[in-house]
Amino acid sequence: MLIAILHNRDADALEDDPGREAREDVVRVASALANALTHGRTLAEPLPVHDSSLEFVTWLERRRPELVINLCESLAADARGEMLVPCLLELLGQPYTGSGALALGLALHKDKAKEVLRARGVSTPGFASVQTPEQLAALELPFPLIVKPSREDASVGMDFDSVVHDRAGLERAVRAIWDRFHQPALVEQFIVGREVYVPLLGNRPREALPLTEIRFGKAFAGRPHIVSYKAKWEPSSAEYVDSPSVPVVLPEELHGRVVACASEAFAALGCQDYGRVDLRITHDGQPYVIDINPNCDLHPEAGFAKAAALAGMDYRRLAERLVEVALERHHVDPAARPVGPPRPRLVAGANRELLAARAGRRPRAHRPGARTSRGSAP
Ligand SMILES: Nc1ncnc2c1ncn2[C@@H]1O[C@H](COP(=O)(O)OP(=O)(O)O)[C@@H](O)[C@H]1O
Ligand SMILES: [Mg+2]
Repeated sequence: MLIAILHNRDADALEDDPGREAREDVVRVASALANALTHGRTLAEPLPVHDSSLEFVTWLERRRPELVINLCESLAADARGEMLVPCLLELLGQPYTGSGALALGLALHKDKAKEVLRARGVSTPGFASVQTPEQLAALELPFPLIVKPSREDASVGMDFDSVVHDRAGLERAVRAIWDRFHQPALVEQFIVGREVYVPLLGNRPREALPLTEIRFGKAFAGRPHIVSYKAKWEPSSAEYVDSPSVPVVLPEELHGRVVACASEAFAALGCQDYGRVDLRITHDGQPYVIDINPNCDLHPEAGFAKAAALAGMDYRRLAERLVEVALERHHVDPAARPVGPPRPRLVAGANRELLAARAGRRPRAHRPGARTSRGSAP
C-alpha cells in the first residue's frame, strides 16, 4: 500500500512569519509518520507542498496512493489555504485522513465556529468579532477579555498583552491584531481556570483518549495563565519551560461533562477522524470550549501521541490507527466518500459533455474496481 504524507513546506516563504516554528514542525511530523508506517508492504512517503505550487496534484495523479495523510496546515505560508487541500483531494477522488474543508475552514474562522457552537448550545465563552473601529467602540463584554486573531491557530499572535482588563488594553490588543494580521480580532471572555485538552480519535465510535492539562508554573505568577506563542513554540523561554502538558484524571462526573462538551463541539463543526478540543474549566466546574483543532499536532512528542501512548498505543500503532479510521470512513460511510469521477447520468444535459470531457482526463477514475481496491489491508 502506498500512503502519501502531504504536508506544507513553506516556513521559508515569509522571513518574519509569526507562525514560523509551527510551520517547520509539520515537516518533522511527516517524517515521523513515514518512519512509523513504512514496513512490510506499506510505503509511506512524505509529499511536501512548496509555497503555492500545485505540483503535488500531478504527483498524486501519477502515483495514486491508497491514502493521503493530510497534514497541510497552510499553503504558501497562509493558513487560509489549509481548507483548500481537502477540496483538491476530493476533486481527485483521493481518500485522505482528517477533517474536510468545511470543518477545517470553520476551525480557522473562529467567530463562525463559535456561532455554530452557540447555535448548538455548546458551552463557549461569550465573544465578539471586531473588524472596524465602530465595532470596537460598540463592544460590550465584561472584562477580563482575551483578544486573538480570528483566522490563525497554534497560539500565533498570543502573548500576555492578549489578556486585557480595561478599554485602553482592549483597543491596543485589537489594533495589534489588525496591524499585524490584517484580519478581524476575536474578543472573548477570559475564563479563569484550568486548561484541559481532549484528544478525540475515530468516528463510529469516537473515542476520547486520556486528557491532559497545562500546568502553569512560576513564569506565570501574577500574569495571565495562557499558552502564548512563546509558551508553545520557544523552548528557551521561561513560559515554555513552565507550562508543561501533563496527564490529568478528572473526577468521573466532571470528566464525563468535559468529554461530552468536547465531542459535541467536534461534531458541531463536522470534524472527523481525529482532533483535539481545548477547554477551560472554571473553579466551579463549568467547562468552556476555547479551541477546536481538527488538524492537531501529530508529532511523537506532542500531546496527541502522548495521550495515545497512555491509552496503550505506541506511535506506530497510532499511525496505523489513523490510517484505519480514515479508510473505514471512506468505505463505510457512502456520504463521506470522495466525490471521485463525475457521473454523467446525474448531471443536467448542458453540463454533461463538459464533465464527461473532464472525466476523460482522469483515466484512473474509470479503473475498474478502483474504490474497492483502496481498502486493501497493509
Ligand atoms: N477564552 C479564553 N479564556 C482563557 N484563556 C484563553 C481563552 N482563549 C484562549 N485562551 C488561552 O490562549 C491560548 C491560545 O488560544 P486558542 O484559542 O487556543 O488559539 P490557537 O487556535 O491559536 O491555539 C489557549 O491555549 C489558552 O491558554
Ligand atoms: Mg489552541
